[in-house]
Amino acid sequence: MAASATEEHAPFASPQIGWAEQQPEDWWRACGLAVHKALAQASLGADDIACVGFSGQMHGAVMLDEQDRVVRPALIWCDVRTEEQCRELNRKIGAERIIQLTSNPALTNFTLTKFLWVREHEPENWKRVRSVMLPKDYVRFRLTGERAIDMADASGTLMLDVANRRWSAEMLAAAEIDQRLLPALFESPDVCGKVSVEGASATGLKPGTPVVAGAGDQAAGATGMGIVAPGAVSATIGTSGVVFAATDRPALDPKGRLHTFCHAIPGRWHVMGVTQAAGLSLRWFRDQFGTGAADGRDPYERLGEEAATIAPGSDGLLWTPYLMGERTPYLDPQARAALVGLTASHTRAHIVRAILEGVAFSLRDSFTIFAEMRVPVGTIRLGGGGARSELWRQIQADVYGHEIEIVEAEEGAAYGAAILAGVGARLWPTVDAACAAVVRVAKRVPPQAEAMAVMNQSYPAYRRVYPATRAIFNP
Ligand code: XUL
Repeated sequence: MAASATEEHAPFASPQIGWAEQQPEDWWRACGLAVHKALAQASLGADDIACVGFSGQMHGAVMLDEQDRVVRPALIWCDVRTEEQCRELNRKIGAERIIQLTSNPALTNFTLTKFLWVREHEPENWKRVRSVMLPKDYVRFRLTGERAIDMADASGTLMLDVANRRWSAEMLAAAEIDQRLLPALFESPDVCGKVSVEGASATGLKPGTPVVAGAGDQAAGATGMGIVAPGAVSATIGTSGVVFAATDRPALDPKGRLHTFCHAIPGRWHVMGVTQAAGLSLRWFRDQFGTGAADGRDPYERLGEEAATIAPGSDGLLWTPYLMGERTPYLDPQARAALVGLTASHTRAHIVRAILEGVAFSLRDSFTIFAEMRVPVGTIRLGGGGARSELWRQIQADVYGHEIEIVEAEEGAAYGAAILAGVGARLWPTVDAACAAVVRVAKRVPPQAEAMAVMNQSYPAYRRVYPATRAIFNP
């Protein structure tokens, strides 16, 4: 890899419980700065860039008016205000029919429900909407002027016929959404536009540089880790947590607990289970309760060191990470997080360790469903912050009861996006060939027998927390 750079954008605003909004212009601002920085770091000229790839958070609803101005802040992936819209879709179309049409149930995370909310609650805003898109596609729109989307990200809108890789005319008609509002569909490695003059001046790229469709963060991240063929599975802990398995058919969980989406590879699909607040659980702890002494070191490293002083099992303390409701396995936006089993002997360090373990248990729930569905699990590769922390890696190996692999490139979704751009630029003939050439395993971590036994004992207790607490918040 030649270089990588990042630039922060503002965190999401949550003006009401369960709401999550961001300003699309802020993504574009940060993207321009990050691309400038990456070019400078690599000492590359804009002429050296053969193609641009894209990835970003999935499901978010960006709405533009006649002059292509943002109509209102985007409702993003973890916004769960749309329960009523989901119920209405189920009433109107039928829950089973929705799964037949889109391979997925109506969930508050999915983009369509967000448009319906705006149409119902902010009719003045909706009247001004002339085109809609997902977060990374807004950034692409600013870079190229093209309205495009890939199959993988489109899968999370509840508007795609995932099995046939085209917009679902029936779903759109039933929801009364005009297909002309939607971007054009492409496969992830397909070239779908070129950098415009305005896009070039904001980023330092050259006008005319080709741009591929790319993919949402999960499909691109999986590509970056070489999760391309059946048997390959990844577990990524970013803000959310995702267990992702590549498949050669659209495999359905009849209960809808896993998402069935197109992969970033033409002719392939994937299933994935999602924990809403995985890394977010630890960030929430850091933001609310601090990191101990301020010595200028990475706060997560310090939290990890604190947690490492506690034995596996956190002396019986359990964390269920439902800070933003939960998707897999409960599909319950009203789910609430819980810290259960506190005694006077527990310390701050126990709580941090319980959070790391609870998030891993939540990801294990997806493996439990994979086993029910007979989705093969050969290798497990870790991504995101959960792969960078030595302690969280070990906890994951122990909780999953399986050796885990860490790949060399840590950039996850951005690395996958670069691979897709490489295929678009014809440096490799296929995504499989590209992954075989550039994805390398840096480390393997086996589970530790003793810790694994403790985790196997704690998991059933963890599974009892949600059913036992649900009635408190949702009588
Ligand atoms: C996947 C999902 C997350 C978000 C944010 O369904 O919601 O991956 O894209 O990371």
